[in-house]
Amino acid sequence: METTVMVLGAVILLLVAAFLASLGLGIIGESGISIRWIGGFVVLGVGLAVIASLIGAVGGEEQGVQQGGATGSPERGQAFFVGQGGCGTCHAIDGVPGAVGTIGPPLTDIAEVAATRKPGMTADAYIRESEQNPNAFVAPGFQAVMPPGLATGQNLEDVIAFLLAPRPEP
Ligand code: HEC
Repeated sequence: METTVMVLGAVILLLVAAFLASLGLGIIGESGISIRWIGGFVVLGVGLAVIASLIGAVGGEEQGVQQGGATGSPERGQAFFVGQGGCGTCHAIDGVPGAVGTIGPPLTDIAEVAATRKPGMTADAYIRESEQNPNAFVAPGFQAVMPPGLATGQNLEDVIAFLLAPRPEP
């Protein structure tokens, strides 16, 4: 990342120098002024293209890191929630077909609710704990009947990503 920035800087410096040099030659020269001006702009244009692609490459790198870091997929999480995970038989989420249960609390606003359940605990950490050890905190007004360990591994990451994702407007 730092090397890319240094290379970028060097390229920009070289380009500015080349541009000024070709401009200078053009202005001083008696003949062919316009051709040298055009030359200068061509150099600048090619340079800008190189810079743009370098910036694109840097952006691509960062995006790749981000994608690599976020392991959960909200789409897969929703499919798991109403399918294999069985969460939808106990939990309702507005606008999600199959998520209609009433044994557990509705999870439509769980992203906000989870952040307030335990002081100092993030929403992600609280939902994670709710999966692995549901009785660590029993939501007020509900029985401690949620089975632990329904979601593990990739399913756990996906269902957390799904529960934290913004709900579409109804
Ligand atoms: C047998 C019914 C049942 C199933 C299946 C079930 N839950 Fe629960 N869940 C509950 C109940 C009851 C509670 C509230 C009591 C508690 O906190 O333990 C709860 C609590 C939660 C909470 C905390 C809610 C809050 O407001 O604090 C989350 C998050 C949650 N469940 C997610 C899930 C997910 C994800 C699945 C599927 C992998 C799932 N549950 C499957 C019954 C269920």
